[in-house]
Amino acid sequence: MSHLQPVSIDRIATPHPLDPLTGEEIAAARAVLVTAGLLGDSVRVPMLLPDEPTTQELAAWSPGAAIDRRVDATLLDVTTGVATEVVVSITRGEVLRSARVPNDAPPYGQPQYLFEEYERAEAIVKASPEWQAAMRRRGLEDHMALAFCGPLAPGYTGRADEVGRRVIRSLTFLKYDEHDSPWAHPVEGLVVHIDLTANSVIRIDDDGDVPVPEGHGNYYPETQGAPRTTLRPIEITQPEGPSFAVTGSLVEWEKWAMRVSFNAREGLVLHDVSFDGRSVLSRASVPEMVVPYGDTAPGRFWISYFDAGEYLLGKNANHLELGCDCLGVIRYLDGYVADDHGHPVRIPNVICMHEEDYGILWKHTDLAGRSDVRRSRRFVISYFSTIGNYDYGFYWHFYLDGSIEVVAKATGIVFAGAGEPGVRQPHATELAPGVFAPVHQHLFCARLDVAIDGADNRLVEIDAQRIPMGPDNPFGNAFTWSETPLVSEGAAQRDADSSVARVWEVQSASRTNHVGRPTAYHLIPEPTALLMADPASSVAARAAFATHHLWATRNEPGQLWPAGRYPNAHQGGSGLPEYTADDRSLDGEDIVLWHTFGLTHFPRPEDWPIMPVDYAGFWFKPYGFLDQNPAMDIPESSQAHSAAGSGCCGGGDACTCAH
Ligand code: CO
Repeated sequence: MSHLQPVSIDRIATPHPLDPLTGEEIAAARAVLVTAGLLGDSVRVPMLLPDEPTTQELAAWSPGAAIDRRVDATLLDVTTGVATEVVVSITRGEVLRSARVPNDAPPYGQPQYLFEEYERAEAIVKASPEWQAAMRRRGLEDHMALAFCGPLAPGYTGRADEVGRRVIRSLTFLKYDEHDSPWAHPVEGLVVHIDLTANSVIRIDDDGDVPVPEGHGNYYPETQGAPRTTLRPIEITQPEGPSFAVTGSLVEWEKWAMRVSFNAREGLVLHDVSFDGRSVLSRASVPEMVVPYGDTAPGRFWISYFDAGEYLLGKNANHLELGCDCLGVIRYLDGYVADDHGHPVRIPNVICMHEEDYGILWKHTDLAGRSDVRRSRRFVISYFSTIGNYDYGFYWHFYLDGSIEVVAKATGIVFAGAGEPGVRQPHATELAPGVFAPVHQHLFCARLDVAIDGADNRLVEIDAQRIPMGPDNPFGNAFTWSETPLVSEGAAQRDADSSVARVWEVQSASRTNHVGRPTAYHLIPEPTALLMADPASSVAARAAFATHHLWATRNEPGQLWPAGRYPNAHQGGSGLPEYTADDRSLDGEDIVLWHTFGLTHFPRPEDWPIMPVDYAGFWFKPYGFLDQNPAMDIPESSQAHSAAGSGCCGGGDACTCAH
């Protein structure tokens, strides 16, 4: 888990209702909770988020006007397990709503884990006589002090001794010295099930043990031998500074403008994204992801991490260091989250913004031999979060031609168990001798509150369509396309199909372009696998969002979470299945798209000891939103800083380095 720094508070100079929470505001919200008697000694704050202004409040607001700033928090009494949801007006200094969370009754669902619970879980395991006995039986008594007891969300198994309780599971990993990576030394078959409210062990599984793999999984340079000396520096210079401007939460780059925000759960959130003064998205984020494991072993069959809903992507976000994560002229924004006690914590440099050269934007050599070329550039907003062994980057790319690309990056340490070296397993691959990584998926869900030229939009599925040879296709070469309106939330639960180049078109219901068609954007999915678990499985109910590439809902306040507000130990059915239960009309409405994309991993030796970044994402591209290529006025780029030397275009005098 990341270690958050103490508070230091900045005030945003130009307040806007969509600004992220400041440290001062989190402190003020906490004071209201204390005064109201809601934050006694045994009460913690698993989640604290901005309660965002409604569409009506935003419409009524003008610069300089008062803003009712609110916080939406979940409180947990750690001695009783009682959880409460509270909405606080910071502006008015009062509690607006307070309600008990029914976490002890079906469909259950526990508040997010506290950082202190990870430490508490390890202490409970190490004090447990059963765990100590299991370690001794395996001859590991000398490793107990240094052992790492990884705290893991339990999934939902329906066991009577678990349902409705605040459970965490612990898997044991050895460390052979203080700096040794524990992930390389799993103690197979040893699972400790813990009740965090009772501070006790519910039970221990202790069988199926095999020898602990002893090969190290360390990646620090001092463990890898001398670094290579063949790479020469690449310097990115922007002598006149970057082309973007930041004013409070407002970011402007070329024809793009947007409000940048950050919260403890979703991390980066973009509001009011517009191109050339016309609205494209009113809110965009990646609010959930699930990492389901495909192994039947007692220590793994229940694993299906919801990194946002169970662990909080934003609270675990990284402090980004200049030069490490991005190159060029970088502007960072700090983020503020609440710690376990509700105190504000500043995460310095949590959001990174910069520009990148992106090769050719457009090019043509005409019949007379004249060549015109313009370089592409993209504006990048990103953050990274570390949840246990894995690290996730979330990148939003904005291009000069009006396109948006969203990329999730997965890296870090692959999670593994132990097995007999050289013996093939059906659900895990051998990464290093005796180190077996279960097959698994990383399925992300992007939430796009689309607003193509305003809130009134329509959704259409477009497929390439074959035509049988016959009177309509006499030569057999012809093909066309089909347009299927997705008019309701039920009809809009759709899967990608790369065999027909399927895209989903979001149209304005009121504006047309200069050829008379509705202005529109296309959501272009990658052809990736959906949830591989059986439809009857627990995880299929809990991660229903991951059973379709596309869902669409009518925008409604509070409907922000693909797997519900509390996916932890939840039996399923929350989030998108609930939101779409009424099958509301989407025709001309304020539509929200929910897009599942991701990775299916059969881990490989090359992913060890640390995994090269793997990528997944999608595009959101204008399709008749604009009347022509919006980048015709990009000037030719100067090559003053490029050298036509070796390694550039293969060298030679004629090289212009415009590739
Ligand atoms: Co993976």
